[in-house]
Amino acid sequence: MDIALDLGSSRTRLFIDKKGKVLDEASVAAYNVMSNKIIAVGDEAYAMLGKTPDSISAEYPLASGVIAQSALVEDMVHILMKHICTSKIIMPRVVASIPGDVTEVEKRAVVNAISAFGVRRVYLIENTKVAAMGAGLNIMGPHGTMVANLGAGTSSAAILSLGGIAESKSIKVGGNKMDDEIVKYIRHKYSLVIGHPMAERCKIAIGTLSDEPDDEKTFRVKGRDAIGGLPRFVDVKPGEIRDVIIETATEIVTAIKDVIENAPPELVGDIFEDGITLTGGLAKLDGFAKLIADNTGIRVTVAKTPEDSVILGCGEAIQYIAEVEKNAKNDINPLMAAY
Ligand SMILES: Nc1ncnc2c1ncn2[C@@H]1O[C@H](COP(=O)(O)OP(=O)(O)OP(=O)(O)O)[C@@H](O)[C@H]1O
Ligand SMILES: [Mg+2]
Repeated sequence: MDIALDLGSSRTRLFIDKKGKVLDEASVAAYNVMSNKIIAVGDEAYAMLGKTPDSISAEYPLASGVIAQSALVEDMVHILMKHICTSKIIMPRVVASIPGDVTEVEKRAVVNAISAFGVRRVYLIENTKVAAMGAGLNIMGPHGTMVANLGAGTSSAAILSLGGIAESKSIKVGGNKMDDEIVKYIRHKYSLVIGHPMAERCKIAIGTLSDEPDDEKTFRVKGRDAIGGLPRFVDVKPGEIRDVIIETATEIVTAIKDVIENAPPELVGDIFEDGITLTGGLAKLDGFAKLIADNTGIRVTVAKTPEDSVILGCGEAIQYIAEVEKNAKNDINPLMAAY
């Protein structure tokens, strides 16, 4: 039995071959700061964020899609994999996605975190490749396909052809940075201290990149008064959130444009015909697809359930393991040599 894993900076998703996605939980771990013993992981630990006593710490152990705190990630992966691995799944082979430009050390950290569970072998694949596969695009032909995977900690764009990456760029910017900007803005403008989960809820509820935000809508942001310390709330409008997050969105748009500008002209011709597909949770941000289309002059579509594209593509990539293991001389196998 084989497993696919999307170890994202905000969510961890697991897929079992022939079954589909079986787990989707927050990439959060909570532990006792004295003993380092894990108390909870996933959604259970997410519910503890910002609400822990001094003796407990709850945090996202992955930063920018790569491993920031290896021991915590290892424990989190181990526990989540245990949730899904019944006695029938012994020493599974694992296909895991990684951002495009990670270093060898970072790759090794991902492999180590997974290996600690007791797996037969780990296969790595770049997240833009699997994002495209999971979005239902054909990346195997001699034809350019462009995808941008917009996540919490990273955003990557790539032009794919013949099962490989012809041009790509990955930046450590995504939804998390927008949440940080919202936290800062609410503090400065309203003297209200809020946590990241509240900022994220606000972004999801009314965040927009549209030129004509619907300011009839409001979102109630609750926090603590920065001076008096007492609980307070303010009602914010989409237009002000747009002004707060537009800079981060522009950084992502620039990365996408860089990929187009550096790609071979024949492939760009294909992209012009077929358009760009957006994947990742942040692709659901209102107005993002239009902003990218307006800035590139290329049609943009959002994948169906964009947050699942990467895990579905990893699941699909399981079928290529056999070829890699046979050492088949097939240059268009999208799976990367594993350790
Ligand atoms: N409806 C929505 N509107 C706006 N943003 C959203 C929406 N749904 C999810 N997001 C944002 O998408 C991001 C999560 O996307 P995703 O699940 O693809 O990230 P990830 O895989 O965990 O991170 P990464 O790939 O960067 O490591 C978060 O910043 C989240 O707030
Ligand atoms: Mg991701």
